Amino acid sequence: MIDCLVLQTVSEHIIKAVLFDLDGVLVATDHLHYQAWSALAQRECIPFDDEINQHLRGVSRRHSLEIMLQGIDRSYSESEIREMLEFKNALYCSFLETLTPSAVSPDVWVLLDELNRQSILSAVVSASCNARVVLKETGLIDAFDLVVDGCDVTRSKPDPQGFLLAAERLNVSPADCLVVEDAPAGVEAAHRAGMHVVIHQYERIGVTRCIR
Ligand code: G6P
Ligand code: MG
Repeated sequence: MIDCLVLQTVSEHIIKAVLFDLDGVLVATDHLHYQAWSALAQRECIPFDDEINQHLRGVSRRHSLEIMLQGIDRSYSESEIREMLEFKNALYCSFLETLTPSAVSPDVWVLLDELNRQSILSAVVSASCNARVVLKETGLIDAFDLVVDGCDVTRSKPDPQGFLLAAERLNVSPADCLVVEDAPAGVEAAHRAGMHVVIHQYERIGVTRCIR
């Protein structure tokens, strides 16, 4: 599904680079983030469910925790916040050890081959500081011209900084880039960067659509 829709969009515009989000687009990791946040929420007796989790998709680790703590009737010190972020990340990283190439949507390899054939550049632009670990575990690390992760930027999605940095490093105009995203924060970031966007949600079959 991802290949035909993206390629259709590519053929309708002069696209010089395709910028892929990672979590939920290239690799099915959303459930691992969910499980790690869920364990933290249980430990801290914070309400957490799939509905709250939807608001965390595509946003940075710290912003995710801020969203989870909204409406909680107690304040947390900076050191408590940091400890919670470390707890969640340690758990998430332990889950990543179970990742294998089977976590990659098979469409991805077909699409990357086709982009290569058409001399269209490809990049990963992720809010995750663990992006390179995920790419290594799944065998994708050498498949892209560029990786921009959450630690390469100072402002996370929905800020366009990551996408604009990728365009600059690839030496292409933002208007010639197509972003493949699954989360509202990423779609907003891509729009603010002045790029074309295709929504693709690996773990939510049937919702791929071109919105611009
Ligand atoms: C991606 C995921 C988010 C996650 C963010 C930061 O955007 O969709 O759920 O919070 O990356 O990930 P990290 O691995 O740095 O905690
Ligand atoms: Mg995503």
